[in-house]
Amino acid sequence: MPVGPLMVEHRLIERMISLLDEESREMSKGQPMRIPFLGDALDFLRFYADRCHHGKEEGILFRDLAGRKLSAEHAEMMKGLVQDHVKARELTAALAQHVRNGPGSCSAAVGTIQALVKLYTGHIRKEDKEFFLPVMQYFAARNKSACWINSGNLIVFSSTSATRSASGCMRMNAKTPVGTIHKSRS
Ligand SMILES: [Fe+2]
Ligand SMILES: [Fe+2]
Repeated sequence: MPVGPLMVEHRLIERMISLLDEESREMSKGQPMRIPFLGDALDFLRFYADRCHHGKEEGILFRDLAGRKLSAEHAEMMKGLVQDHVKARELTAALAQHVRNGPGSCSAAVGTIQALVKLYTGHIRKEDKEFFLPVMQYFAARNKSACWINSGNLIVFSSTSATRSASGCMRMNAKTPVGTIHKSRS
C-alpha cells in the first residue's frame, strides 16, 4: 500500500504528541517549562512532522491527487488537510516564541501545546481513517508502486545540517525511540 510509510510515520508523530500532551498537563499543574524537552519537541515538529512527513504528503501524494478528477468530498478534504498543515506550522512557530519568551509564557505555551495536540490528533485520524485509503482509488496499481518508491526517496530538507538531511529524516521511523529524543519528567 503506497500510503503505508505515511501511516507508519503517523505512529511516531503520535508518540511525540502524547509526550507533549503529558508535558502540558504537568506545566498546567505548576511545573516549569522544560526548555530542553520543548526544544527537542520543536525540532521534531519542524523537521520530522512538517518537512519530512507533511513534505511527502504535499510534495507527492497531494500533488499527484491534484492532477486527478477527485470527488468534491475528497477535494474538500485534501484542502482541509493542507490547511491543517499551515495551522500546525503557525502553532509550532507560536510555541517556539513562547519558549524564547521564557517562564513567563508558561500558560500561553500550555494553550499552544494543547492546540497542537488537538490539531495533530484530529488530522492524523482523518488521514488514516477517511482519506489515505479511499483516495487510492484514483491511482492505477502501477502508480501506487511508483508513489511508494518516490516517498522513500523524496528530498525534503534544504538544511545543510547532517541531522536535518533527507537521509536523517528517513532514518527516523516508528521504531525510533522518541524516549531518546528527551528524558521524560520524573
Ligand atoms: Fe497531513
Ligand atoms: Fe500525515
